[in-house]
Amino acid sequence: MDAKGAGAIVSGGASGLGEATVRRLHGAGAIVTVIDFNTDKGEALAKELGVKFVKCDVTDAEQVAEAVAASAEDAPLRIAINCAGTGTAVRTIGKDGTPHIRSEWDRVLNINLLGTMLCMTHEASVMSRSEPPAAASGSWPSIRPAPAWLTSRLARACGRWLVSATRRSCAAGSIATGTAPSETTKPWTSR
Ligand SMILES: NC(=O)c1ccc[n+]([C@@H]2O[C@H](COP(=O)([O-])OP(=O)(O)OC[C@H]3O[C@@H](n4cnc5c(N)ncnc54)[C@H](O)[C@@H]3O)[C@@H](O)[C@H]2O)c1
Repeated sequence: MDAKGAGAIVSGGASGLGEATVRRLHGAGAIVTVIDFNTDKGEALAKELGVKFVKCDVTDAEQVAEAVAASAEDAPLRIAINCAGTGTAVRTIGKDGTPHIRSEWDRVLNINLLGTMLCMTHEASVMSRSEPPAAASGSWPSIRPAPAWLTSRLARACGRWLVSATRRSCAAGSIATGTAPSETTKPWTSR
């Protein structure tokens, strides 16, 4: 697509994948808005490139709504890239047998999953009301009204990974299963 003059928003745009995306889109002529909760890096990048920066925690729906609205002020929003994310070094089961830490689970999933959903749905909402309506490329479930499918499919996919990760931490001969046995039967659950 021709990005020249198109409105673009990049979450997590202050660093890493997001920053590289901001630079590429800016170089291609897009009107880029960087959203990130790292003010120092976000403002420095915005100043260097002459683009807009909005401080935003992607896990906060109100902040996301405001940031997405701000991104559509200077040009119709056409491009949305969501890179805000994080990780954790906490193991599924610690070396001493300690179960995974609940607070880390919540923190990472809130940013990576909830944050991505909030950004995507707010961006899609603004895009769907722009003139002419923006076209979404690829499979973007939030463009279509299918919230039940969105959540159940995500839960199923995550459940499969959870079983797989737990299995790798278990002793040989044990079986790890999830909440959907029909989806998680042998041989891949047993070890
Ligand atoms: N770099 C890679 O090769 C790679 C490969 C696969 C997956 N990933 C995943 O992609 C994501 C981004 O990777 P990266 O290397 O660009 O990381 P990064 O740490 O360089 O950049 C992430 C950006 O997201 C921002 N951020 C984090 N939480 C936020 C929040 N709640 N609200 C707003 N902004 C927030 C950070 O401030 C940071 O600027 C991570 O989840 C990472 O695990 C990265």
